[in-house]
Amino acid sequence: MSNSNEVFVVQGLAGARTLQGSIATSGAKNAVLKILAAAPLFKDSLTIENVPHIEDVDRSCELLLELGLTVDSKKKNTLIVHEAKKPILDMPHELSKRFRASIVFTGALLARYGKVSFPHPGGCVLGGRPIDMFLSSFEKLGATVIHKNEKYEITAPKGGLRGAHIHFRIPTVTGTETVLMAASLARGTTTITNAVLEPEVVALAEFLHDSGVKIEGIGTPTLVIHGTAQKALIAKKAYVTIPDRIEAASFVILAALAAKDVTVTHCNTIHLESVLEHLKMMGVNFTTTKNSVRVFGNEKIVLQAVTLKTHEYPGFPTDAQSPMVVALTQARGESLVWETIFEDRLRYTESLQTMGASITPMNPVQVLVRGGAKLRGKLLESPDLRAGIAFVIAGAIAKGESVIGNIYNIDRGYEYLEKRLQALGLRITREMR
Ligand code: EPU
Repeated sequence: MSNSNEVFVVQGLAGARTLQGSIATSGAKNAVLKILAAAPLFKDSLTIENVPHIEDVDRSCELLLELGLTVDSKKKNTLIVHEAKKPILDMPHELSKRFRASIVFTGALLARYGKVSFPHPGGCVLGGRPIDMFLSSFEKLGATVIHKNEKYEITAPKGGLRGAHIHFRIPTVTGTETVLMAASLARGTTTITNAVLEPEVVALAEFLHDSGVKIEGIGTPTLVIHGTAQKALIAKKAYVTIPDRIEAASFVILAALAAKDVTVTHCNTIHLESVLEHLKMMGVNFTTTKNSVRVFGNEKIVLQAVTLKTHEYPGFPTDAQSPMVVALTQARGESLVWETIFEDRLRYTESLQTMGASITPMNPVQVLVRGGAKLRGKLLESPDLRAGIAFVIAGAIAKGESVIGNIYNIDRGYEYLEKRLQALGLRITREMR
């Protein structure tokens, strides 16, 4: 989809609220990637619907092909993954390094075939991003872990992985998902404590349950997984990807800053509760239904500062922190922003400062945002997916033109972004630099 020379060129609205229309939320990146990763657990084939057309999905499909599975698509936004005839258990180095979700593929491969080797995964650079909890969980499930030549080689005991008790010292999204998959085909029962509650993880657990693994406690921090003792799973129905709550949140925040009347549709507003609560505190006018948010009547409001602290679900999502910081640059007063999930996810605020935002770093995980800034269009490089969308939003409200480079990072998680925002009246184009 994106070429390394492509940029987004955004003509800013200079604070005017003119965007109008509706924008539909796509399927969730962080849900669909995990179902693709779970594919090796399944016998025959697995159908996945509401798949977004994003770079990380393309990389996951390439990864599946390299592992011996096949992927086809007969309908738009639908993928069918077929079981490997000759599975390959050595994850390709380059591809695995390109995105963090590659680590999740290890759980299903190990559970189904008893062996997997992989390099340290890549992904957005948000700090150290260690994998210690993955490795120690595999060991608790009876596997041996060898780290040599920049590769991890994991081998299950004879007869397959064994049920175990696993406590996560920090709640981890991909860690919970990987153990869920590994434990699904294990012998005996696995208990996970301090599991995350993110809707994408709940959707995965429900699908595994519906496919033959008895899982208790879904949607709670304690999951009890009764493994199938190496019996592959059978998908009884298609997996329908849940709406992307982070994409929806990004669009609602853009609307709060630049809309005359915009409705974000096809979302699940329960998943947006924390973001909407913060926007309400800021004074944003909106109405909701079960699956839409309409933002309107904000021409005369003055946004108010709020304290923002990221948290695991159902708290404020770290992935919506950067769009929200852009909103806070427009609020009256000072807002303290505290990033509690990642150790280095505020660096992008330096670029917002070049646009005229007043943001003071307090320490690596806290910044103070002074509102009322008049942003100016700038040349920006997107350091990661969520900072990238924040720059698009900042560009949309700034005065003048912004040129945002490195948009591969944005295409990783937002499909056809420019077309969808153009439909709301934003002047944004994809151009070759
Ligand atoms: N951590 C460890 N050791 C581990 C695993 C994680 O110390 O073995 C730490 C991390 O460094 C972090 C904390 O635990 O400080 C929590 O990280 P988590 O494991 O939950 O993050 P993740 O699974 O790597 C997923 C999403 C991220 C999202 C976070 C938090 C995927 C592919 N990625 O990452 O999404 O920010 O959960 O919700 O699901 C994005 O979409 O832009 C994105 C970065």
